[in-house]
Amino acid sequence: MGQPVNVGVVGCGAISAQYFQTIDRLPQLRLVAVADLDLDRAREAVRPYEGVDVLSVAELLADPRVDVVLNLTIPAAHAEVALQAIAAGKDVYGEKPLAATAADATRVLEAAAAAQVRVGCAPDTVLGTGTQTARKAIDDGLIGRPIAATATMMTPGHERWHPNPDFYYVPGGGPLLDMGPYYITSLVTLLGPVARVIGAASRTRAKRTIGSGPRQGEEIPVTVDTHVTGVLVHASGALSTLVMSFDGAATKAPNIEVHGEQGSLVVPDPNRFDGQVLISGKDGWQELPESAGYVGAGRGVGLLDFAADQELRAGGSLAFHVLDVMESLLAAADSGTAVTITSTCERPRPVALHSSVS
Ligand SMILES: NC(=O)c1ccc[n+]([C@@H]2O[C@H](COP(=O)([O-])OP(=O)(O)OC[C@H]3O[C@@H](n4cnc5c(N)ncnc54)[C@H](O)[C@@H]3O)[C@@H](O)[C@H]2O)c1
Repeated sequence: MGQPVNVGVVGCGAISAQYFQTIDRLPQLRLVAVADLDLDRAREAVRPYEGVDVLSVAELLADPRVDVVLNLTIPAAHAEVALQAIAAGKDVYGEKPLAATAADATRVLEAAAAAQVRVGCAPDTVLGTGTQTARKAIDDGLIGRPIAATATMMTPGHERWHPNPDFYYVPGGGPLLDMGPYYITSLVTLLGPVARVIGAASRTRAKRTIGSGPRQGEEIPVTVDTHVTGVLVHASGALSTLVMSFDGAATKAPNIEVHGEQGSLVVPDPNRFDGQVLISGKDGWQELPESAGYVGAGRGVGLLDFAADQELRAGGSLAFHVLDVMESLLAAADSGTAVTITSTCERPRPVALHSSVS
């Protein structure tokens, strides 16, 4: 193994702890510095880790040790922070979505191409054994030609548990832009890029009430649709039916099912790395053994392609396509007409079954 990739994190909120744990156990990565608008939050977040500098955003971006800026800010800040990192000559990897709008994401990708730096983006959960085992089953022909999929995410909303849930209810948030990246990235991994979408969406309440933390009981405004449905027409001809909701109480529907001409698959939660993959057969449903993907992975394994100096599986063009599909689905819902997707991407390279720790 060569030198580890030095990571500088901007944004030390709720999700950052999961990344710090992953980076800490992967010898291919080293956390050198963190920054946040709230420096106390940044200090607190890295207290368990030795030798990590707490810097201002400007200091972190100017730090010559930092190879990759890991952008864990809120969606509205994703593009701005990424553009600053690119201007500083750094590779960037960010939380999803790539940006709050496809227009902002275009600016990020164009700036990165001009500066010859790389862009990566969550979710990397689909590189785990769950989605990867299902993908291998499809690629090995176990269900025949895939013809359709369903994807369902139904929850009453993240304001029940997140102490600062405002970003979930403004543009860049909502059930589609927040949770859609997991499901649509998984669907593109399984079935390839999307060519056209139709959709319908609704908004049940104008306000939400924060359910935990110091702001418990505070009402926050809702300016996005909170129940989004649609059909994604893949370039292959397969049709994926999508339901993403912050309005439903609960569901027993599988997160994702894929149907082929000769069989069907139950694909586990794409917001997790692992989980049971089931395949239909003449004796009913059977579990497939893990056959592909990072074993025991955590958020941040997408950064490993930087360390291996390989094209990023969790890369900018996939993340852009997913954002384009989501934005187009909302436009289709708004206009009541089908929307053609102008972007496309390659299916990311599969991950062979192995541990993420080299
Ligand atoms: N919370 C989760 O469970 C979860 C899970 C998966 C992905 N994500 C994604 O991770 C990202 C962050 O979510 P979170 O829940 O950690 O949010 P959060 O609000 O808890 O934390 C975001 C942090 O970013 C900082 N920040 C915002 N703008 C900044 C800027 N311009 N410069 C520097 N710091 C800035 C804030 O001060 C805050 O500390 C989002 O894109 C979200 O979609 C969150």
